[in-house]
Amino acid sequence: MKRLVLLGPPGAGKGTQAVKIAARYEIPYISTGDILRRNIKEGTALGKKAQEYMDHGELVPDDLVIALVEDRLTWEDCNNGFLLDGFPRTIYQAESFDKYLAQKDMKLSVVLNIRVPEEILLPRIIGRRVCKTCGATYHVSSMPPKAEGVCDLCGGELHQRADDAEETVLNRFKVYQAQTAPLIDYYETADEIAHIDGAASQDAVFDAIVDILGA
Ligand code: AP5
Ligand code: MG
Repeated sequence: MKRLVLLGPPGAGKGTQAVKIAARYEIPYISTGDILRRNIKEGTALGKKAQEYMDHGELVPDDLVIALVEDRLTWEDCNNGFLLDGFPRTIYQAESFDKYLAQKDMKLSVVLNIRVPEEILLPRIIGRRVCKTCGATYHVSSMPPKAEGVCDLCGGELHQRADDAEETVLNRFKVYQAQTAPLIDYYETADEIAHIDGAASQDAVFDAIVDILGA
C-alpha cells in the first residue's frame, strides 16, 4: 500500500513522474492542478473561483483545495493508496491533511521531494506542451512529439498551459519559495521525506524513485 506525495517546484517533473509511478504501483494519480484546470475548462463554480488565482500564478485558497482533495480521497480507487501531486502546498494544507489522515487512521508512506535548480526549470516550463485531450506532457526540444503539435498517444492537439507564460512562471517560483518550500522542513521533522535529483534524465529520476519505493 503506497500513500505518496510528490513535492517540488514548478517544472520539477512531478506530472511526468506521476504518470509512471501511478502505473507501476497501480494507484490513482491525483493532481490538484489538473483537477482545477478541468474545473476551469468545464466552467464549474470551483473553476470560476480558482481561475483568477491560477492565471496569476498564485495559490488557490487553502479551504477550496483541501475540500477538493478530501472529497477525491473518498473515492473507492483510493482504498489501496494514492499519489498526490501538488498537494499539500502550504503548511496550513499539510497540517490539515495530517489531521485528516489521523482521523482515518492512515499514514503517508513517503513524501518524494524532486529537487531541480531554478535555472533549468524555466526552459523546461516554457517549452512544455500538453495534450488538450489526454493531458500527456511533451517538451519542444527535450521530449518532442513525433508530429509537431499532435499527441503521440491519442492524436489530440497540444497546447501551452495558460500559466506557462514567462512572467507568470516567475511568480509561481516566488510563490513556491515562500509558501511551499517550507514543507521540506515540515516533512523532514516528521521524518517522512526522501530527496530525488530531478535534474537527471526522466528515466534516471524514475529509477531513483523506484529505488526508494521498492519493487
Ligand atoms: P500545478 O499544476 O501543480 O503546477 P506546478 O506545481 O507549477 O507544477 P508544473 O505542473 O508546472 O510542473 P511539474 O513538476 O508537474 O513538471 P512537468 O512534469 O510537467 O499547479 C498549477 C496551479 O494550480 C498553481 O499555480 C495554483 O494556482 C493551483 N494549485 C494547484 N494545487 C494547489 C494547492 N494544493 N493549493 C493551492 N493552489 C493550487 O515537467 C515540466 C517540463 O519539463 C515538461 O515539458 C517535461 O517534458 C520536462 N521534463 C520533466 N522531467 C524532465 C527531466 N528529467 N529532464 C528534462 N525535462 C524534463
Ligand atoms: Mg504538473
